[in-house]
Amino acid sequence: MADLTTDFLGISSPNPFWLASAPPTDKEYNVRRAFEAGWGGVVWKTLGAEGPPVVNVNGPRYGALYGADRRLLGLNNIELITDRPLEVNLEEIARVKSDYPDRAVIVSLMVPCEEAEWKAILPRVAETGADGIELNFGCPHGMSERGMGAAVGQVPEYIEMVTRWCKENYDRPVIVKLTPNITDIRYPARAAHNGGADAVSLINTISSITSVNLDNFSPEPSIDGKGSHGGYCGPAVKPIAMNMVAEIARDPETRGLPISGIGGVTTWRDAAEFMSLGAGNVQVCTAAMTYGFRIVQEMTAGLSQWMDEKGYTSVQDFVGRAVPNVTDWQYLNLNYVAKAKIDQEQCIKCGRCYAACEDTSHQAIWMKEGRVFEVNDAECVACNLCVDVCPVENCISMVEMAPGTVDPRTGRTVQDSYANWTTHPNNPGAQAAE
Ligand SMILES: Cc1cc2nc3c(=O)[nH]c(=O)nc-3n(C[C@H](O)[C@H](O)[C@H](O)COP(=O)(O)O)c2cc1C
Repeated sequence: MADLTTDFLGISSPNPFWLASAPPTDKEYNVRRAFEAGWGGVVWKTLGAEGPPVVNVNGPRYGALYGADRRLLGLNNIELITDRPLEVNLEEIARVKSDYPDRAVIVSLMVPCEEAEWKAILPRVAETGADGIELNFGCPHGMSERGMGAAVGQVPEYIEMVTRWCKENYDRPVIVKLTPNITDIRYPARAAHNGGADAVSLINTISSITSVNLDNFSPEPSIDGKGSHGGYCGPAVKPIAMNMVAEIARDPETRGLPISGIGGVTTWRDAAEFMSLGAGNVQVCTAAMTYGFRIVQEMTAGLSQWMDEKGYTSVQDFVGRAVPNVTDWQYLNLNYVAKAKIDQEQCIKCGRCYAACEDTSHQAIWMKEGRVFEVNDAECVACNLCVDVCPVENCISMVEMAPGTVDPRTGRTVQDSYANWTTHPNNPGAQAAE
C-alpha cells in the first residue's frame, strides 16, 4: 500500500487531506470526529482578536448552485469568522492537539492590521501547541469591510508587512491564505514570499451572488429582503483554483514556495490534480459540508489505489509533476493535429454533437440516413465541443493524426515532433522555447 504520509513544512500528517478553515473545524466536537473519520489535519475556523463578539446573521447564510441532478456544484456563504470566544477556542485547540499528536492542527487568524494586535494573539496561539498558523487574508465579505480578510489580501504591501510581523513573533510555520478576488495571483503570492511566509494556501472564496428571488428581487441568501455578496466555493471553483496554484508554482519568483491547494476538492482525483500542479497537500471544505466527514475515507482509499497502480510509493513522487507541462499559449505545438471520432456502437443518436457543430462551430459532422452521425475530417478542427456536449462518456474522442499523413483540412503533412514546431519560424515562441 502506498504511503500517504505527508510532510508539509515539517508538519507530518497521515495523509494529505486537511479540512479547511470553516464550519467543519469550528469546534472541538467537530475536529475530534473529523480525526476519528481519518482526516490528516485541520485548519481551525478563523479566530479573531479579543474584543466585542462577532455576530452572524440570524437567517440563511448559504446559497447554492445546482447541477441538473441537484448535485451541489457551488456554495455561497455570508458567514463571518468564528463567533465563539477566543479563550474557549484556544483551550479546545490545546486539548485536541495533545490528544492527536500525529495530526496537523493549524490555527487560522484574522486580526486588525496593527502589529500590537498580532503581538497580542500570537503567544496565546503558540501556547496551544498547534503546529502553525494560517493568515486569513481572503474572506471577501463582512470582515473585509472592517479592513481585514480580503481587504488585506488585495494589497501586496499589507500582506508582506503582516506576514513579517508574524514571522518575527511566532516561531512555527506561517501559511498565508490568499484571496482569488484579485487580477493576478502571483503578486500576493510574491508578497507573502517576500514577507517570509513558509507557504501559501489558496483559494479562499470568490465574491459572488448565487441567485435572485424573482418575487421580491432580493439576492439570496436573503435576510429580510436584502442580500449581500458572499464567498463562493465547491466543485465549480476548482478550475479557477488550479490555475492559480499552477501560476504560483511556475512563477520564477515563487518557485519552490510550498502550496496548500484549496477549492472544490471532492475526490481523490481532484487532490491528485492539485498536487500534480504543485500543491504539497490539499484542504477541503464544501465536500465535507455536503457529504460528511467520512468522505475522507474514499479520498484516501482512491489516492492510495491510484498510487499503487502507478507505482508511486510516496506523494512526493507526483507532487509538481504537471508543472513543467503548464506553458504559455505561444509554446503549444501547432504541428499537432487531431480529429474527432464517433464510436457508432456507443452513440445514442441524440444529435447534440451535430447541433453544436452545425450551429456554432465548423459544420464538421454529417447527419446521415437513420441519424448516423459522422465526422467530416476535411472540416474538423478538433475543437472538442462535440466531446464536451456528448452525454455519453468516451463516445466521441480526439484521435491524433499520425505523422506523415496528410490533414484533409489543410492539405499539409502532419509533422512528426514537437521539436519541429519549437524551432519553426512561424512559431512566435521559438526563440524562448529553445
Ligand atoms: C461556510 C464557510 C465558512 C468559511 N469560513 C472560513 C473562515 O472562517 N476562514 C477561512 O480562511 N476560510 C473560510 N472559508 C473558506 C474555506 O476555508 C475554503 O477556502 C473554501 O471554501 C474553498 O474550499 P472548498 O471549495 O473545498 O469549499 C469558509 C467557507 C465556507 C463554505
